[in-house]
Amino acid sequence: MSLVRIDDLSIDYRRAGKTIRAVNELTFSVEEGSIVGLVGESGSGKSTLALSLMGLLPRNGSVTGGSILFEGREMQGLSEDDWRTVRGHDMGMVFQGAMNSLNPVKRVRDQVAETVRTHEPELGKDGSIDRSHELLNLVGIPSDRHEAYPHEWSGGMRQRGGIALALSGRPNFLIADEPVTALDVIVQARILRLLEDLQEALGLTILFITHDLGVVARLCDRVVVMYAAQAVEEGTVEEIFQSPKHPYTKALLGSVPNFAKGRGKSHGISGSPPSLINPPQGCRFHPRCPDAMDICTREDPYQTTFSSSQRAMCHLYDRQEADDAE
Ligand SMILES: Nc1ncnc2c1ncn2[C@@H]1O[C@H](COP(=O)(O)OP(=O)(O)OP(=O)(O)O)[C@@H](O)[C@H]1O
Ligand SMILES: [Mg+2]
Repeated sequence: MSLVRIDDLSIDYRRAGKTIRAVNELTFSVEEGSIVGLVGESGSGKSTLALSLMGLLPRNGSVTGGSILFEGREMQGLSEDDWRTVRGHDMGMVFQGAMNSLNPVKRVRDQVAETVRTHEPELGKDGSIDRSHELLNLVGIPSDRHEAYPHEWSGGMRQRGGIALALSGRPNFLIADEPVTALDVIVQARILRLLEDLQEALGLTILFITHDLGVVARLCDRVVVMYAAQAVEEGTVEEIFQSPKHPYTKALLGSVPNFAKGRGKSHGISGSPPSLINPPQGCRFHPRCPDAMDICTREDPYQTTFSSSQRAMCHLYDRQEADDAE
């Protein structure tokens, strides 16, 4: 069953009299109990989507179309009171840069206890402190460090603290926005293992946002690839890594040493992502695409389905479905 269903979702920001479409007609689902990886270059709209799922878009941002269903319930138009219950309790978020978002002048134990108390006031002061210790143990912080201030913790510990905060309302859906990006590889591996363990122990469903495909390969069941505010490809981890269809997905894989085909050499993607104020006509990837054709400069690609789980938006496959049907 889908825990989260995002359907044709568009999100705009207004800045200096201009409109930035940060998420454009995005559709995908997150099945209960799964880990879905959302990947794409900087500025592709990943965090914007995450914030919209939590009802936390900044003032200048708004959903301009489509819907978000959580457990079958429409999230658009929820009152701020309703959001307060949903946020934290139904869904928790590890924010991008979470390790720098702990309050520097408060002991971590007390910060976690405070958020616990907003969700479970009946626990009282002592009960919420007990629960805070439980959560910090759960994310692997040794007991004798719980009462430290954030600056006394390493980056990895602070990131664990961010995860404890996200879990403080006992959510069943966790959004983790680049939770390991600023960490060294050993600490990264530990945090990933922690997320895997938590998923199993708590039955969590996770939307894992990253630009690191190596991390996705290790952790996720499915992958959604975003480019310039759109989902250009979606599939299981096996499909995306073994048989990517969209040239952008292939380029992303080519930029990771372990996945680059041929001579073990990786290469970046040339050019840079387009402006979202005035994106290119036709396929947004065409100015950087090695396979671009004439039609790509003029017409929006539509979606081709390759299996029950894999689909991509690319003109290369325009005839495929028709051919398959013959
Ligand atoms: N508050 C804002 N006001 C105006 N534009 C914004 C705002 N936040 C983000 N944007 C723009 O929206 C687009 C998507 O940004 P977003 O932060 O969602 O990307 P991202 O995929 O999370 O990138 P990164 O990998 O760097 O975290 C970018 O063009 C960004 O400049
Ligand atoms: Mg981001």
